[in-house]
Order: sequence, then structure tokens, then C-alpha cells
Amino acid sequence: MEEKKKRDGFGSKIGIIAAAAGSAIGLGNIYRFPCELGNNGGAAFLLVYLAVVIFLGIPVMLSELVIGRHSQSNAVGAFKKLAPKTAWPIVGYMGVLCGFLIFAFYSTVSGWTLEYIVKAVSNSFSGKDLATIEQDFSDFHNMGWRNVIWQAVFILLTGFVVFKGVQNGIEKYAKILMPLLLVILIVLGVRSMTLPGAKAGLSFLFNPDFSKITGKVLVSALGQGFFSLSLGMGVLITYGSYVKKSDNLTSTAFSVVLADTMIALLAGIVIFPAAFSFGVRPTAGMGLVFNTIPMLFNQMAGGYVFCIIFFVLLAIAALTSTISLLEVVVAYITEQLHVKRQLATVIACAATMFLGVFASLSLMENTPFIIAGKTVFDAMDFISSNVMLPLGGMLIVIFMGWRLGKTKFFEEVTNEGKLKSPLKAIIFFIIRYLAPLAIAVVFINGLIK
Ligand code: TRP
Repeated sequence: MEEKKKRDGFGSKIGIIAAAAGSAIGLGNIYRFPCELGNNGGAAFLLVYLAVVIFLGIPVMLSELVIGRHSQSNAVGAFKKLAPKTAWPIVGYMGVLCGFLIFAFYSTVSGWTLEYIVKAVSNSFSGKDLATIEQDFSDFHNMGWRNVIWQAVFILLTGFVVFKGVQNGIEKYAKILMPLLLVILIVLGVRSMTLPGAKAGLSFLFNPDFSKITGKVLVSALGQGFFSLSLGMGVLITYGSYVKKSDNLTSTAFSVVLADTMIALLAGIVIFPAAFSFGVRPTAGMGLVFNTIPMLFNQMAGGYVFCIIFFVLLAIAALTSTISLLEVVVAYITEQLHVKRQLATVIACAATMFLGVFASLSLMENTPFIIAGKTVFDAMDFISSNVMLPLGGMLIVIFMGWRLGKTKFFEEVTNEGKLKSPLKAIIFFIIRYLAPLAIAVVFINGLIK
């Protein structure tokens, strides 16, 4: 009877929402989203991004959850079970590989959050002007091994949580801390909007110039949407397999998309008014966040304490995301290769660390780690986020729409008829026709350019 008893799972509805939102909300919202928006013309990017998130994000997310819960298996195992003796498991393998790649460069930036906690505690921003804070940031990059050590610490932290398993690990950490991040972002947003010259930043964020929507902007917004929602590589297949049969998958998907998008928007409202006010260029990339935020705290009553809290929360947001990246890899190794969870975690962390060193060291001046004119860091980011995730997402919706099919989809989203799920038909239509087409068009158009 209870043959599934040994499989780990989430304890409650809020558990899956918290874990999926924890995976989604991270550096992608607070660090990568402002970077991409700044580099892609501001408000025009935001519009495309919102369209991606609503029209593609929800259907892809729901497809992943359905595939995961229906198969009760990891990213690779799911396709093996649902489509035996076909090439479909390749989608899962690509996901596992992509998980490695993302974890490798993501842990670099995650490591910075730890460095910045130390900087905040030692009060090293106070009284400094922008030029000095910018100089400190690039000096830090040039201390390559310092980056690597923080990165290693972060990978170990992630490994520690995943080591302990789903229910004790992932769920517990995500539940309490994400709402706190929301609160501090709101406080920061208010401060940012009331700085002198903040209007220009708000207009950059919200006043679209449609002529700026190019093929590159579409590809970047697509990539950012998938990245921010943790889609296209099987995170939500894996998490979906831990979800109880009585949970409502549709409302889970809606909640996660809403929460993730709110945090990204708030991050934009925090960063851009302040950046314009201080004179940080919107195209400043990494510095956009890591330099603007400390400047912002310098202008705030109680900035010292808030700054520490902010970087601690940012580190935790990053952690709940890296947990999901590692979980995909570990679930695969454990279930498909029959290795104990603990050993699988150690292997995956060691391999990530190896790759990650190149990402970190590629950000130094005069680094040898350049591929086709990009730093290894940027190359890993580009290939995983802008190529592998959309490709994976496209294949996932095709799998859902054409292989697994409507009946199974309806069964899962209605919990075998127990829920109404009024949007199921329209969502399935998007999954079957619109989503694959839209992703393919953006993708091919981007490749040609
Ligand atoms: N979504 C996370 C963020 O915004 C990053 C992340 C975690 C991710 N797991 C993922 C991105 C899986 C793509 C795929 O920070």
C-alpha cells in the first residue's frame, strides 16, 4: 500500500509555495533583473518581461509541476517514466547540466553577499562617496581568491541544507525569511523614491520607449523570465514530485509568479531612482546593485543596521535559490544513479566548486578566463539563461501539450476532478500552441541577429 512512503515530501501547501517562491526569489530578482533592465532600455524591457512572465511563466511553471507530481520523479526520471524508450529524458539531462552551470556562476555572486555582510558589519561604507564604493567593489573582484573562498563557503552552506533533505531543510528556511525581504525592500523603495532626482529613475523604469524593443531585448526578457522563475531546467519538476496530491497546482503557480514579480518590481523601484540620483549609470551591470545599495543606506537613518539586515536577507534569498539548483542535481544522482543522498550532495558540490572557480576568477582584470570575448562568468550565464532555459522550457511545454496531453493535464490541475480550475482550458491552449511558438520565434529571431 504505502509503497511511496520512503520518498521525501513537502509537509504542507505553504511548504510548496514557500519552497518554489524561495527558489524563484533570489539574486535573479534583486541583482540580475535590474542589470538586464538597465542594459536593455528600461521600461520597454519591463513590459516584455511582464508579458513573458504572465503568458509563458505560468504555463511553463504549471507544466513542470504537473510533470513532476504526475511522475513522482526527478527531472530525468520523470521523462523516463512518462515517455519510456524515447529521447525525452534528454530534456532532463539538459536540466541537470544547466543546474550545474547556473549554480557555478550564481555561487560567485552569492559569495559576494557574504563579503558585503562583513563590509556592512564593519561599517565600511559609511561616509564614502560613490567613486570610493565603486573602487572597493572592483578591488574586491581583483582579489580572486577571496571571491573563491566566499563562493566555497556558500556552496558548503547550500550543501548543508540539501544534505538534510527536503522537509527539514528547504521548507523550514524558506517559510519565514522571504516575507521579511519584502518588508525591507518596501522600506528601501520609499527611501529611494524620495531622493533628489529620483523621478528620472522612475521614468526610466516605467515610461516605455517602444522603439527600444529589439530582438536582443526579447531574448533577454525571455531569459530573465525563465531565470527569475526558476523555469526550464526541472526545478519545479523535482519540487512538483514532492507536492501532495491534494495541493492546488494552479494556485501555487499563480502565487509564485505573483510573489516573484512583485519582488523584482520592488527591486527596480529600489535601484533605479537611487541609481539616477547618485549618478550610477543604468548600464553599470554588477555595480548597479552592489554600489547603489550601500550608497542608499548611507542616506538613511539607521542605515548601518538596515544594511546588515539587507545583505543577510539577500544571502538567504540566494541560498533558497541555490538549494533548488543543487536539489535538481542531487535528486537526479540519488534516484537515477542510486547513490546515497549525502554522498550525492558532496559529489555535486565538489563538481560545482570546480566549475565555479573559473566563473569567479574570470571577473578579475587581465583574467585568462575569456571565451569568445565574454568572461567565463558571462558565458555561463548567457548559455544557461538565454539558451538552455528557454530551450528546456519550450521542450517541456511541448511534452506537456503533445505527449502527456490534455486529459492528464486536466486530471492533475483539478486533482482528479476535485478542484474547478476555471482557467485550465485556456492555459492548456497556451501550453500546446502559443508557448512553444512564442519561445521558438523569440529564440530563432535572437539567434539570427
Ligand atoms: N530563480 C532564482 C533567482 O531568481 C535562480 C534560480 C534558482 C534558478 N533555481 C533556478 C534559475 C533554476 C533558473 C533555473 O535568483
